[in-house]
Amino acid sequence: MLCRWLTVLILAAFLLVIEGIAVTQGTFARDQKLLGANVFGTQNVTNPPTFEMNMPRNVTTAVGQTAFLHCRVHQLGDKEVSWMRKRDMHILSAGILMYTSDLRFQVIHPDKSENWTLQIKSPQIRDSGVYECQVSTEPKMSLNYSLNVDAAGARILGPSDLYVKTGSLLTLTCLMSQGPHDLGTVAWYRGNEPVVTSPHSENDVNGEPRITVKTEWSGALTSRLKITHAKSSDSGNYSCVPTVAQRAIVNVHVINGEHPAAMQHGNTAAGSPASKTVLVMLAFFLGQLR
Ligand SMILES: *[C@@H]1O[C@H](CO)[C@@H](O)[C@H](O)[C@H]1NC(C)=O
Ligand SMILES: *[C@@H]1O[C@H](CO)[C@@H](O)[C@H](O)[C@H]1NC(C)=O
Ligand SMILES: *[C@@H]1O[C@H](CO)[C@@H](O)[C@H](O)[C@H]1NC(C)=O
Ligand SMILES: *[C@@H]1O[C@H](CO)[C@@H](O)[C@H](O)[C@H]1NC(C)=O
Ligand SMILES: *[C@@H]1O[C@H](CO)[C@@H](O)[C@H](O)[C@H]1NC(C)=O
Repeated sequence: MLCRWLTVLILAAFLLVIEGIAVTQGTFARDQKLLGANVFGTQNVTNPPTFEMNMPRNVTTAVGQTAFLHCRVHQLGDKEVSWMRKRDMHILSAGILMYTSDLRFQVIHPDKSENWTLQIKSPQIRDSGVYECQVSTEPKMSLNYSLNVDAAGARILGPSDLYVKTGSLLTLTCLMSQGPHDLGTVAWYRGNEPVVTSPHSENDVNGEPRITVKTEWSGALTSRLKITHAKSSDSGNYSCVPTVAQRAIVNVHVINGEHPAAMQHGNTAAGSPASKTVLVMLAFFLGQLR
């Protein structure tokens, strides 16, 4: 009896093993088939599209200054490039067709090129945000672009409270981005009065005017107000006022002693009174040595 049951058990186990092998072989055969299909498929299919990753994807511009988001796609094949605004999931373009009534948006795609540039004319602060360049692969490929639109306006480099020692050189540098949308030039004010640059009569020891303004354009506007031999009467609120944008302001304190914070270290080329004293003493000692 026991012997017969044992035989049945062994037989069952044997069958199970056989079945296991068969299943494994089946799966193997199926995998082979899939692999074959794949190999065959890739033979005639060109490489999939890829994004050019070397493009700037954090783009900063000023209000009114045309912005460009450059998306470059290699091996696009028969796929399509679209631009989407993340804020409202609005598809702005597909291929070279625009899907927005906002005429400030354009896609620039030179024929046969790999470039699909989204151009945003006269951008506003509300246009800031994430834009997505998409390729209609399955699943879809996408790349995020960040657009930052800053308020157009002047800004003065450095702290908003500036401490300088009497007799030293005070330099204020005002910057303003310019674009196709021209923001004009800037004027300097102390309080409510325009800063008056020195007439040639009020010259310092080097024969240079004490108060000068130099303004230059090179993409951005840079205006430098320089006051040599600062006096306590030079203290006050200095503002850099553009013709058609927001002003920037800095509160200048001309003081006698040291101030721990925000002290501008700019001495005149002629040297501070202290270094002059040292020079005179050195000359005296050298004279004594002879
Ligand atoms: C690749 O596809 C093209 C049509 O898209 C066909 O004419 C050509 O024979 C195919 N080549 C191979 C190797 O399958
Ligand atoms: C993008 O640039 C802006 C300004 O240049 C900067 O404040 C911000 O941190 C940058 N964002 C990223 C994700 O790099
Ligand atoms: C495509 O974009 C790249 C990088 O912005 C640029 O150098 C190139 O000239 C553009 N090509 C065309 C045809 O516009
Ligand atoms: C793209 O930006 C969105 C926010 O708008 C963020 O949720 C998502 O993770 C970003 N995707 C990538 C790939 O960085
Ligand atoms: C400069 O402006 C600040 C704040 O705007 C004000 O508190 C201060 O009195 C002003 N200083 C002068 C000298 O006008």
